Amino acid sequence: MTHRTPRYDLVSRPRRLRTTPAMRRLAAQTRVHPADLILPVFVREGLTEPAPLGSMPGVVQHSLDSLRRAAAEAAAKGLGGFMLFGVPAERDACGTAGTDPDGILNRALREIRAEVGDEIVLMADLCLDEFTDHGHCGVLAADGTVDNDATLEVYGRMAVAQAEAGAHVLGPSGMMDGQVGVIRSALDEAGHGDVAVLAYSAKYSSAFYGPFREAVDSQLQGDRRTYQMDPANRREALHELQLDLDEGADMVMVKPAMSYLDILRDVAEVSPVPVSAYQISGEYAMIEAAAANGWIDRRAAVQESVLSIRRAGADSVLTYFAVELADWYREENGTA
Ligand code: PBG
Repeated sequence: MTHRTPRYDLVSRPRRLRTTPAMRRLAAQTRVHPADLILPVFVREGLTEPAPLGSMPGVVQHSLDSLRRAAAEAAAKGLGGFMLFGVPAERDACGTAGTDPDGILNRALREIRAEVGDEIVLMADLCLDEFTDHGHCGVLAADGTVDNDATLEVYGRMAVAQAEAGAHVLGPSGMMDGQVGVIRSALDEAGHGDVAVLAYSAKYSSAFYGPFREAVDSQLQGDRRTYQMDPANRREALHELQLDLDEGADMVMVKPAMSYLDILRDVAEVSPVPVSAYQISGEYAMIEAAAANGWIDRRAAVQESVLSIRRAGADSVLTYFAVELADWYREENGTA
């Protein structure tokens, strides 16, 4: 029997738009532009050379010097911003190095702002976990639990110190109730009305933060389940979003990204302010590990992962792949 091509039943042929790279590019609904990318960077006190991270191949803890170069590179590549995390030499119960204007994070902010000015958005992680000797994101009450309201008071001071050091945007990542409101008031009272807050609105208690804990030499024993969100919950993300908006959040974030694309979609559908998503350390490490074993095509997997985060609704993406993605974008799309 000979094969007969049907004449009338295939009116629409979606494959027409997939025939050539140029056709696919024209039909693409989502792009990953360098300006949509935010690079997370680590600076560690006392380093003279950058220190590689075993669980995040290709990512380093920077010295102040190498950080300055990394910041200039991020600006030159046209990235949207970078998010700075500080790793202090000394820690204590209250995370004093976080509020100290001469603490490593604040010093680095000052130097970087002097280096890049307003060329790129300089974001600062606003949290205590890197600075406390117990590794929690806040200060502890006498019974060992994380004391929400005592922590807010410290966050307020930390916010002013970071604004004074030159941050354009503060990223409170500690998941204390009321943190956005307290930070907003502290900034306004200190005359920093122009400094914006990127609220980690829906931040889940995730196993995928593992490699980050190496990156900041975390002292944490146990977990953060009493303050970060339960991975089982979806509706709660919208509640957290509403609270942060009411408290004055300028932008909001969902974190992690890939295991939480449904949450990201929910938030993106209703948020009146820009939405970010954070492709975290464990997401990075999984791709790197599989690629190192030759199990996946690294470049294609990296691009697809970040594209999927944008497609789910993120306006911007925090990703350790930001610089490479920017290079690939230029390679594939010219220099525009
Ligand atoms: C906490 C903080 C974490 C990350 C960013 N800020 C870790 C945590 O909550 O335990 C994780 C980022 C990553 O894994 O890439 N201040």
